[in-house]
Amino acid sequence: MPIGVFDSGLGGLTVLRKLQSEMPEQAFTYLGDNKNTPYGTRDAYDVFDLTCKGVQHLFDQGCDLVIIACNTASASALHRMQVSWLPKGKQRVLGVFVPMIEHLTQRDWGDNAAPTHTGLKNVAVFATQSTISSGAFPREMKFRARDVEVFGQACDGLVDAIEKGDRVEAENLVKRHVATMLAQLPLPQAAVLGCTHYPIVEDLFRAALPASTRLVSQPDLVASATRNYISRHSHFAEQGPVRYLTTGNVDKIRNLAQQFLGKEVVWEKAEMAG
Ligand code: DGL
Repeated sequence: MPIGVFDSGLGGLTVLRKLQSEMPEQAFTYLGDNKNTPYGTRDAYDVFDLTCKGVQHLFDQGCDLVIIACNTASASALHRMQVSWLPKGKQRVLGVFVPMIEHLTQRDWGDNAAPTHTGLKNVAVFATQSTISSGAFPREMKFRARDVEVFGQACDGLVDAIEKGDRVEAENLVKRHVATMLAQLPLPQAAVLGCTHYPIVEDLFRAALPASTRLVSQPDLVASATRNYISRHSHFAEQGPVRYLTTGNVDKIRNLAQQFLGKEVVWEKAEMAG
């Protein structure tokens, strides 16, 4: 069966691209909820509700494994979905959040031992307002890593600028948000682009951050964690094509999607219940 990849819009295509290069034969079905994007300014209940609907649609398309390629949904809805919504059975939902925390702390997610020294003293997290407000990132870091300080910066406006393809506005916003971060933390040891859209403007973050700051690439981490998961759960693997679904206007997003994928693809309208 195809692996489902869900995002609030087009940003998850940065993750899909890496998944495809790690697993070139694998069938994928992508769903972007462009009609309801952005999620990053919504409250946690809204994000939960929309994410459940999107994931259900991918289940209905025959995807038994769905990757939530959206930090906002992973940070504020995934845990609740797994505890109270996901039907007991063969279907599984994974997020983009866990591989990032595992990488930064060098600890397995299931390792509940006391926090250890990881060598990481501080980390700057750039994400949407919802992801920062969820508090999920500092909570999960501190659960595993001792003596690490986590600084969060909500990058208001940046998702919209990227979805519109407005690079000038995106550059101004990146400069402004990075400057606000550096006023609190002048020399971040590591910086996390904690939103699936931001790899599109990774060069702008790189230029605005100090040269010594390590930029952590989430799509790479998610792709290799997924490949690893599939090698242990091979019943989810199936060769086949990639389908691209959107709840939004197919004609409007066709061109914009090219900046995320580097090529033109055929989009299908997703008719979702609810
Ligand atoms: N894809 C979402 C994320 O990674 C951001 C986009 C949005 O605000 O909807 O956080």
